Amino acid sequence: MKLWDKGFDIDAWVERFTVGDDRRLDLALARHDVEGSMAHIRMLESIGLLTADELTALLGGLRQIADEIERGQFVIEPDVEDIHSQVELLLTRRLGDVGKKIHSGRSRNDQVLVDLKLFYRDALRTLAEHVRHLFDRLQSLSEAHRGTLMPGYTHLQVATPSSFGLWLGAYAETLVDDVRLIAAAYDTANQNPLGSAAGYGSSFPLDREMTTRLLGFESLHYNAIAAQMSRGKTERATACAINAVASTLARLAMDICMFNCQNFGFITLPKEYTTGSSIMPHKKNPDVWEILRGRCNRLQSVINEVSLLTTNLPLGYNRDLQLLKDITFPALTDLLQCVDMAEFMLRHIEVNGHILDNPIYDHLFTVEDVNRLVLSGVPFREAYRQVGAQVEAGTYRPNRTVAHTHLGSIGNLATGRIAEKMSRVMARLFPSGEED
Ligand code: ARG
Repeated sequence: MKLWDKGFDIDAWVERFTVGDDRRLDLALARHDVEGSMAHIRMLESIGLLTADELTALLGGLRQIADEIERGQFVIEPDVEDIHSQVELLLTRRLGDVGKKIHSGRSRNDQVLVDLKLFYRDALRTLAEHVRHLFDRLQSLSEAHRGTLMPGYTHLQVATPSSFGLWLGAYAETLVDDVRLIAAAYDTANQNPLGSAAGYGSSFPLDREMTTRLLGFESLHYNAIAAQMSRGKTERATACAINAVASTLARLAMDICMFNCQNFGFITLPKEYTTGSSIMPHKKNPDVWEILRGRCNRLQSVINEVSLLTTNLPLGYNRDLQLLKDITFPALTDLLQCVDMAEFMLRHIEVNGHILDNPIYDHLFTVEDVNRLVLSGVPFREAYRQVGAQVEAGTYRPNRTVAHTHLGSIGNLATGRIAEKMSRVMARLFPSGEED
């Protein structure tokens, strides 16, 4: 069944090629499509394009479909093009001609846009919540291991003392900036495109402020063309957020693989969370973190796919846009799984408490010793020269006491302040505090 059926059949191959994977992907839009239609028909009634009775009947039909979606009984039939056609078909089958009235003043171009905006709003909030759980885990591990020192590196060369608290807290604070990008994508999604119709508005006096209110959008895309141009823009912003979270996770995964390597030996993964080798009986490999690193590195290409798909498209709707769903939907699911797995694996990480006793880390303390000389009145450059000469002569013996006190240092992690910063960013996504 086609909404645009004109009495002749479309070639079956053309049909299959153009519909592509939409029947499966559109299921993720089903409840949003119903929600969008409810707002649209309420508005149509308010401007006299539906009677009160027609509205009641249609709302009842849409509620029934919403129930079926909720109970997992909703399908897009094999000869139906997409979610929009399926909903209209069901209403018409069940309610008769009144079902054919819901599409006045609307095109599938603004209908799919509104569905997508509602979908991304939900998906981005869910992503932020999961990232927040990972953040909380990192914060509490950072506090738990605040007193455990480890080497800090620059150029992958032993540099100055660091701590597990500082290392884990760094990933927590970095996630705050990633959530800022999620919030930016959310703001982009939180605008009503409904009423832009095919892309240039409608001759009906549509009350776009009413549908904005009903759908809980923060604002509208006022200009009908801008509304259509936002298809691809919302995805680009979402892809930036995906990119940010994925890059943080991939980097954490790399650290963990490296620190778990015998040459470092900073952390251990309990054997239940490792995998073995078919030939080497001793192996306990960190495959989870490797798969996580690989998946998160791949996810960083989503922004490229979105950019390439939408670069230089002519103004107005183009069917290419349909393919965006196939890029961002699986990416969002994939990223959620990686965020959750990282949080799960971190719960089981074991930290080596005596790393710095090994003399290979003696040089970590040269700056501490230079600073002690400075505090006793020796000018910095002279203190640097004295300690450097001891290192060169092989006579340097470290004083292993570390006393860092400034904000954001080993001795003062500012965990509470970082948590406050995260809460402020989360409040942009959950203004009334309804986050779990
Ligand atoms: N499946 C389509 C999409 O996602 C729905 C909009 C179709 N519009 C059209 N003019 N063919 O873009």
